[in-house]
Amino acid sequence: MKIIIINGPNLNLLGKREPVIYGNTGFEAYYSQLIKEFSTVSLDYFQSNIEGEIIDKLHETGFDYDGIILNAAAYTHTSVGIADAVKAIKAPVVEVHISNVYAREEFRHHSFISPHAAGIIVGFGLAGYRLAVKFFTDN
Ligand code: DQA
Repeated sequence: MKIIIINGPNLNLLGKREPVIYGNTGFEAYYSQLIKEFSTVSLDYFQSNIEGEIIDKLHETGFDYDGIILNAAAYTHTSVGIADAVKAIKAPVVEVHISNVYAREEFRHHSFISPHAAGIIVGFGLAGYRLAVKFFTDN
């Protein structure tokens, strides 16, 4: 089984960025734990601060991978392009948000991606990525 985690803008700063909201763990450290836990899964990780690169990665993996875990970060709330890419590809996409976006500013309550996602995991911290991998391995 091939799964990719795609993280959007500013998520390269996890561990340093607003730790009260996003925690103290960098994504790489968390990702190594996931790789160990799901040793039978081929798990990849991609992060970009650039909208078009995220779209390119969705195109590249979206007809080949079994599942995509996407935290498009701020682009969730703004990008019709990423939403269209999610709609265009074959692989099911689980949308993840580390924070509970519904408990935050109103502009974070709308996602262009959600209507095209297989499911949405919101507000469980980094554990949301693990839950998304579990969803793919259990289904
Ligand atoms: C986020 C929530 C977004 O609103 C925000 O822009 C992010 C991270 C989250 O994981 O909680 O950068 O997607």
